[in-house]
Amino acid sequence: MDALWAIKTRRSIRSYLQKPVEFDKVTAVIEAAHYAPSAGNLQDWKFIIITDKAARHAIAEHCLEQHWMAHAPVYIVVCSNEERTEMRYGLRGKRLYSVQSCAAATENMLLAAHALGLGACWVGAFDEDYLDRTLNIPDTARAQAIVTLGYTDEQPGEKELTSLDSAVYFGTYGIPYEKPHLILKDYSVEWEQQAQKAKPALEKGIASIKKSVQQLKEKVRPPTKEEEELPQPRREEEAEWKG
Ligand SMILES: Cc1cc2nc3c(=O)[nH]c(=O)nc-3n(C[C@H](O)[C@H](O)[C@H](O)COP(=O)(O)O)c2cc1C
Repeated sequence: MDALWAIKTRRSIRSYLQKPVEFDKVTAVIEAAHYAPSAGNLQDWKFIIITDKAARHAIAEHCLEQHWMAHAPVYIVVCSNEERTEMRYGLRGKRLYSVQSCAAATENMLLAAHALGLGACWVGAFDEDYLDRTLNIPDTARAQAIVTLGYTDEQPGEKELTSLDSAVYFGTYGIPYEKPHLILKDYSVEWEQQAQKAKPALEKGIASIKKSVQQLKEKVRPPTKEEEELPQPRREEEAEWKG
C-alpha cells in the first residue's frame, strides 16, 4: 500500500466484527509503532496488549462510557516511559518530547493497522487513575493513548477537511501567501496559469491562420478539367478576371 494513499484513506473505526485478530498482525502493528521517530531515539514507549473481554468492557466504561470500544477484540495501551527522556531533556523532555514520541508511535499503529486491512481508533478520553491502578502503570510511566484494533464493521466515507490554505502560513504565523508555488519555486503552476490566460488569444490566432491557409489553398487550387482544356492565354485571362 502506498504511504500517501494509506494516510489519506485511513479513518477511525468504531464498529468491529466479532472476529479475532491474528497475533502476527498485532505484532506487526506494534512493530510499526517501534519504528516511529522519538526524541533522541530514546524509544521511550511501552505497549500493553489487552484482549481479555471483561477488562476491555471495564476500560470502555472508564473511557467516558465509550461502549463501542468493547467490541474491538484488541486494545493496545501506549505508555510513555518518561524517566530517561526527562533525564536527558529535563521537564521539556517529560512534558513534550515523551508525549510527541508516543503520538508518532500511535499514528504509525493506525496506519499499519489500515495497511494490514484492520480498523483502529485512537482513544484519548480515559480515566488515567483507573488505568494506572488496573494495569499497574508505575509513576515513571504515563498512559498516553488506547488504540482499539479489529476487523472493521463499517466503511466510513471520505473525511471532510478544512481548506489547507487556512492552515498554512509563510514566513511567520498568520501570514498567508497568495502564490505559494512561487515561494516553493514550482514554476509549472505559474506557467500553467499563464498558458490558461493566453489560451483564448492563441485559439483566435490559430483560427485566423487556418482561415488564411484555406483561402490560399483555394487560390492556388489545381485547374479543373474544363479550365485545362482552355488555351493557355485564356486561362490566365480568366484567372485574372476571377481575381
Ligand atoms: C489525541 C486524540 C484523542 C482522541 N480520542 C478519541 C476518543 O476518546 N474517542 C474517539 O472515538 N475518538 C478519539 N480520537 C479520534 C478522533 O476523533 C478522530 O481522529 C477524528 O475525528 C478524525 O477522524 P479520522 O481519524 O477518521 O480521520 C482521538 C484522536 C486523537 C488524535
